[in-house]
Formats: sequence, structure tokens, C-alpha cells
Amino acid sequence: MTTTSTAAARADGATALDARELYRFFRTGEEETLALRGVSLHVQRGETVAVVGPSGSGKSTLLACLAGLDEPAGGYVHVGGERISHRPEAQRARLRARRIGVLLQSGNLIAHLDVRENIRIAQAAAAAATCPTSPPCSTGWA
Ligand SMILES: Nc1ncnc2c1ncn2[C@@H]1O[C@H](COP(=O)(O)OP(=O)(O)O)[C@@H](O)[C@H]1O
Ligand SMILES: [Mg+2]
Repeated sequence: MTTTSTAAARADGATALDARELYRFFRTGEEETLALRGVSLHVQRGETVAVVGPSGSGKSTLLACLAGLDEPAGGYVHVGGERISHRPEAQRARLRARRIGVLLQSGNLIAHLDVRENIRIAQAAAAAATCPTSPPCSTGWA
């Protein structure tokens, strides 16, 4: 996957996500796959973005790098003005819990809850893990 964006780094309050020049390679034996080749992406607060492309074009690799589930070999990712790339896994996990919701096609959904309830329970768990008071203080069940 490649993009042509050359936008400058943004750390203003209107920026939700800023990814610059992401590179990610996979090596399997002798074969090297360039999944991401200089991908840049800028998302404003309130903006909805869909990443589309053929199978194998790098969508999952990009989303994993944006969410801090994977590390790009080059480039960086800022979420809400904080850098999430090139940090120890535990720090990425804490930032992800505060700033990012990841809903996969399977595996991490609670079957008897709908999408909204799945998101809320993840927010409540994140708030409980980071808030010193009890019950959880900020985001959570409405
Ligand atoms: N863990 C991995 N090891 C080796 N190759 C991988 C790995 N993950 C992804 N790839 C390769 O990187 C490319 C992009 O994969 P992926 O991001 O899963 O694409 P998409 O989600 O668009 O189908 C593909 O060629 C895929 O085979
Ligand atoms: Mg995929």
C-alpha cells in the first residue's frame, strides 16, 4: 500500500490521527513483502475514513500500525497528539485503551451485546483500569 500525501505533521486540537511515511516489511524465508510503502494518513476529529483495497494490499497491516498493535519499520503514528509508534508495547496498550477502539471481525466481541454495547464495555474497562476512583470516573455506561 502506498499513498501520495505529503502533509506536514499536525498536532493541533482538530487532528485525531496523524500517520506519516509508514513502512512495514514481512520476511518469510527468502521472500520479502513490502506491505506498507510510505503510507501517510491524516484524520480530523469527527471525520469518518474507510480504508479500501484488494485483498493483500495492506489494509490490516495499516490498521494494526495505526492502533499500536504492530510497529512500523519506518514512519510514525500520532493519536490525539501523542506518539503511539516506537514505544514499548505496554505504553502502546495504555494509549490504545485511552484513545482507540478496535473492533475485529471476530475474537474480541461479546456475542449477546450489540456494537454500541461492545464499545461501551471496552470503554468502561479502560476507564476502570486507569481511574484511581471507584466506580470508574469518566467514560463508561451511559
Ligand atoms: N505476518 C505476516 N507475515 C508475512 N506476510 C504478511 C504478514 N502479514 C501480512 N503479510 C503480507 O502483507 C501483505 C498485506 O497483508 P494485509 O495487510 O493482511 O492485507 P489486507 O488486509 O489488505 O488483505 C500481504 O501480501 C500479506 O501476505
Ligand atoms: Mg485484512
